[in-house]
Parts: sequence; structure tokens; C-alpha cells
Amino acid sequence: MTAIKWDDSYVVGIGVIDEQHKHFVGLLNTLYESLESKHTEKIPDIIQDLTDYAEHHFKTEEDYFDKFHYPDAEIHKLAHNELRAKVGEFAERHDNPKKLGSDLLFFLEKWLLVHFRGADTKFAKFLKQNGVK
Ligand SMILES: [Fe+2]
Ligand SMILES: [Fe+2]
Repeated sequence: MTAIKWDDSYVVGIGVIDEQHKHFVGLLNTLYESLESKHTEKIPDIIQDLTDYAEHHFKTEEDYFDKFHYPDAEIHKLAHNELRAKVGEFAERHDNPKKLGSDLLFFLEKWLLVHFRGADTKFAKFLKQNGVK
């Protein structure tokens, strides 16, 4: 595994969403760094931060769905709910923190980057058409 380098291919073009996505990538890199270092005692807290931040971020997007009556809201919410459930399962696991942390990182890295480029990019396009920046 390597740290994630943020690049323009992840940018969706809506300020608040891009800022939150960047913060997410920062949290993933924090997890990565603690896995690489000997400070595995920090992993449970980082997992908690990721879980809390996911909830905060999904709420931001879902509030926009409601506000602008986004036509693809249901399918996009399903994707968020799948991730909420999956992260919840990780949080319930009692393996050693290093194994848990690296499994979670592997999973989230793939999931998030695909989601940014797919569902979130599509949604951002809709918001732009509705005058959101
Ligand atoms: Fe997002
Ligand atoms: Fe999303």
C-alpha cells in the first residue's frame, strides 16, 4: 500500500464537496502512516475519525439531494448506506488493530476513489447546473 496522492482527477468542482473529499484522503493517509509506523495504538481512534467523517460528509451530500430534488438521490444514498454498513462491520471486528487498519484502508481507498469519480462527479455536475459552486 502507498499513501494516496490527491490529484485533479478526483476534483468534482463543488467547493465544499472537494474540501471534504480532500479531508477524507488526509484521514486515509493518517491511517496509512500509523500502519507504517510503530504507532498502531492510534488506529482505533483513526477508524473512529473516519467513521464520523464519513457520516458528516454523506449528510452534506444528502442534504443537497433533498434541497435540489436530485433525481438520482436514491441510488446514490444506497451507495452511501452500503459504505456506512461496511464501515460499521469493520468497527465491530476484534482483530488486531494493524490487520483491521490495513483491511479498512485497502477497502476505503478503492471505494472512495471510485465513488468520487463516479457517483459524486455525476452529482456535482447536477449541482453545477443548478448554480451551486
Ligand atoms: Fe462524496
Ligand atoms: Fe457520495
